[in-house]
Amino acid sequence: MEKIIDEKQQGNSLIMEPKTENKRKLFIESYGCQMNFSDSEIVASILSKEGYNTTQQLEEADLVLVNTCSIREKAEQTVRKRLEKYNAVKRINPNMKVGVLGCMAERLKSKFLEEEKIVDLVVGPDAYKDLPNLINEVEEGRNAVNVILSKEETYGDISPVRLQTNGVSAFVSITRGCDNMCTFCVVPFTRGRERSRDPQSIIEEVNDLASRGYKEITLLGQNVDSYLWYGGGLKKDFKDATPMQKATATSFASLLKMVAEAQPKMRIRFSTSNPQDMTLDVIEVMAAHRNICNYIHLPVQSGSDKMLKKMNRLHTREEYFTLIDNIKKLIPDCGISHDIITGFPTETEEDHKDTLSLMQYVKYDFGFMFAYSERPGTMAARKFEDDVPEETKKRRLTEIVNLQQEHSKYRTQQFIGKTVEVLIEKSSKKSDAHWSGRNTQNTVVVFPKENYEVGDFVNVKINDCTSATLIGEPIGYSENN
Ligand code: 5AD
Ligand code: SF4
Repeated sequence: MEKIIDEKQQGNSLIMEPKTENKRKLFIESYGCQMNFSDSEIVASILSKEGYNTTQQLEEADLVLVNTCSIREKAEQTVRKRLEKYNAVKRINPNMKVGVLGCMAERLKSKFLEEEKIVDLVVGPDAYKDLPNLINEVEEGRNAVNVILSKEETYGDISPVRLQTNGVSAFVSITRGCDNMCTFCVVPFTRGRERSRDPQSIIEEVNDLASRGYKEITLLGQNVDSYLWYGGGLKKDFKDATPMQKATATSFASLLKMVAEAQPKMRIRFSTSNPQDMTLDVIEVMAAHRNICNYIHLPVQSGSDKMLKKMNRLHTREEYFTLIDNIKKLIPDCGISHDIITGFPTETEEDHKDTLSLMQYVKYDFGFMFAYSERPGTMAARKFEDDVPEETKKRRLTEIVNLQQEHSKYRTQQFIGKTVEVLIEKSSKKSDAHWSGRNTQNTVVVFPKENYEVGDFVNVKINDCTSATLIGEPIGYSENN
């Protein structure tokens, strides 16, 4: 199931239930992380009140918005290519307006308007509430830019329009921004400082999703374990909070417990965890609640202490192993995945071998692997020369991808002969006669449809597997139905 996302970044144009009174058409496309997909749902909600329904036909759109990613250069190139496509369509439909949202908007700001003549509107991740005003500006013939990062904005008061159509799984944002300052990463510059959303509004959103038949939610943030609600404000200012605010603050472990207990039949997932911020009490809450999935995405980036330090990852290899050991002690069957970067500046063969040996220790269920891509403005770009040759980065990437393939196969094979609970999400891509869903460890499971439906929890006996997929037969509804 290992994926090299940056080589094949895929856009996804999404659609919502139309409102009959809405006459204008919005084509909204998202690239990059889950947070972007979730933000696009907030944007669709804001614009639905301004008379826009979503469309999947680019040619008929009055407004085209592309929610962009800056994490690697390839991701930005993909968006530039899409702008060329929009340009071609605009020749046929000259009234169409084009806006750029997300991390590229924040990174490039008004430079975008100079570099890409097609773009009318540039809006950063904290400025989506200003979209109605900015669109008015554009309609009056002016270009419009708002890239102001906020100390407060969490969009906690907006009910996202669900663009995801399976009606089973949804994302719920809980924090925005990142304070970690990993030296390779552009996110702290494009998404600003960490702030958390009011737990009450999170619970309300989860309850609402449950009442509309959703069965699984993923709590989203760049760094979920760093969640901290003390009445609003930036995480970094918590030190100045009043004693009362400090005493009544909500941590990620308490939020997770609250969500799990508010909806005991809802599957709860979360992403992303950073090793240095993941505390034992989070793992204990996971272990104590059946509906919190046994799966953690735990990026490591490198297995070498020297690289971890240079990347400003605030933990050592040994500390990471201790965390893995604690997870496996409290949740023995926990699925674990990773992000790893190859070819960070000065990475030697020795450092690379440390990454391979770390992988051997953990034997991850799957992972996301990338060749280092220098991002303008980051600490690494300013301080370190991008000195690992491209062929070396690629070769090391192939080696870790191959090792991950072996480990994925090892992990999926452990399920053969066992019965797992699967939440049905959709038809299998390969066969219309099979359902596809995931087990608690986040591994994809396919099985014959029989009389089951999307949204059912089914016990499936696993008979076969590939490195990415478990193949089985349904043996009845699970007790969660
Ligand atoms: N080059 C390559 N990969 C990167 N990531 C973040 N920044 C870079 C970069 N400059 C990867 C990290 C992170 C994931 C979301 O993207 O592995 O965890
Ligand atoms: Fe980037 Fe590091 Fe923050 Fe993740 S934790 S978003 S890699 S700075």
